[in-house]
Amino acid sequence: MSNRSFYLTTPIYYVNDIPHIGHSYTTIAADVLARYKRTRGFDVFFLTGTDEHGQKIQKAAQACNRTPIEFVDDVVSKFKTLWNTLNISNDDFIRTTDERHCRRVKKIFQRILGNGDIYLGEYEGWYCIPCESFWLESQLEEGKCPECGRSVEKVKEKNYFFRLSKYQKRLLEYYDEHPHFIQPDSRRNELLQRIKYRVDDVSVSRSAVEWGIQVPMDPNHTIYVWIDALLNYITALGYDDDMQKFQKYWPANVHIIGKEILWFHGVIWPALLMSLGIDLPFKIFAHGWWTIEGKKISKSLGNAIDPQSIIQFYGTDAYRYFLLREVPFGLDGNFSYSALIHRINSDLGNDLGNLLQRTLTMIEKYFSGIIPEVSGADDELRGVSQITHDKMDHEMDELQFSRALEIIWEFIGHANKFIEDKKPWLLAKTSDTRPQLAAVIGSLAMAIKDISVFIYPFMPKTATEIQRQLGILLNDQPFCLELHQGFKESTIVRKAKPLFPKIEPTVVSAIN
Ligand code: ME8
Ligand code: MG
Repeated sequence: MSNRSFYLTTPIYYVNDIPHIGHSYTTIAADVLARYKRTRGFDVFFLTGTDEHGQKIQKAAQACNRTPIEFVDDVVSKFKTLWNTLNISNDDFIRTTDERHCRRVKKIFQRILGNGDIYLGEYEGWYCIPCESFWLESQLEEGKCPECGRSVEKVKEKNYFFRLSKYQKRLLEYYDEHPHFIQPDSRRNELLQRIKYRVDDVSVSRSAVEWGIQVPMDPNHTIYVWIDALLNYITALGYDDDMQKFQKYWPANVHIIGKEILWFHGVIWPALLMSLGIDLPFKIFAHGWWTIEGKKISKSLGNAIDPQSIIQFYGTDAYRYFLLREVPFGLDGNFSYSALIHRINSDLGNDLGNLLQRTLTMIEKYFSGIIPEVSGADDELRGVSQITHDKMDHEMDELQFSRALEIIWEFIGHANKFIEDKKPWLLAKTSDTRPQLAAVIGSLAMAIKDISVFIYPFMPKTATEIQRQLGILLNDQPFCLELHQGFKESTIVRKAKPLFPKIEPTVVSAIN
């Protein structure tokens, strides 16, 4: 069974502020993949969590006159509440302030120190607090952080360093031998150029920052927050004092991250693992960045919309659907209310919602609410369903969520067109055509059931609701249904109100 395990992670998010759309995007994508893999029989371990140490958080706590731990406890609860609202099915939630994490990080640090890859030195250069990144003078762009464009501060302090430069060659060889290690390809190529150009040793401790895990046997230093954070991916599995989960799930199948932290994940993290003698993860997927109504999401612009307010108004599943449908995974995207409403009214309301509504209405009208049986060649939508399933499989394995959704919606479109072509209302006019009418309606019901299985990873609540209305929901696990599995005899449908009622754009401006 161990080869059927699937370990996936999100970044652990900084808790200097409440979560915004960007954080929810990565976590939803990971949730969709986790749910999907579970439906395919994998033993999934899905990890998310919070990154709670370092200068940025220390500063944020100070600004509100709170102790760091009080401050982070509060923000962590906001993250947890959001994941709950969004139906995130994570198997663990790691906090870098967890005792299990701190204890293991210290031990790992000591191990790297012991093998000679960490040495004491002095750092002189620049530091970006929002990114928690060290930059050389030559890397700055117009004196600002090359990553986020904000001001940097001068730093001169004693630091422990990790011999990253020693791993330059091995890293390059590894990328060469594993062309799919970093995805998408464009990001991989950028990273390769940068590594080929230059790799310096990196600081792995701070002597000016108190809020962090103490360097073992040197109370003047705390472990650099990025080293502390990256290690979460193995400390959460118990590395290395409780190895059961580690043995079962490592190497990670995929670390899903945003593009801005690819250097840490694609270079520093693999080198740390090499130093520890641990296998590398199979894949690192760096997705693109969201803007809001065309602008960078930022606290200073005040446009960091709280996902809770969107969800309250438009619903969890519409939000999940929109984020993954709107932008190919890997590319940058733009959030706008008009685009969201368009997707809800057209894809969810018109295409999916109407298909269900029309079909259930006909089952009630022509068959007293009992789903007619259909089998074999009479089930004309069956073949299309199988093709949809296979194509979707392929796209999901590539993390191409928007493509997978397009494929499902092609099937929905096909089913809607099937109604137009077959004109059941004409077949219902005479008793001669009763068998044809039963075949058409039965085939539609089967198609809708399959559609509920396809959309389940993306919209778990909606999938459940569709199955409830079809009268087939036996437990809360729609993903257990097999494709084309027939309905039980005399399954009675329970038509309810539309899944996605039309949203009038006028209502919207009220919340903007
Ligand atoms: O970097 N668009 O945490 P963080 C898309 N603690 N995704 C976005 C986004 C946007 N505008 N903004 C944020 C950290 N994200 C570290 C990670 S991991 C060992 C340590 C998402 O709170 C995206 O996944 O800054 C990005 O990589 C992550 O949030 C950064 O979150
Ligand atoms: Mg960030």
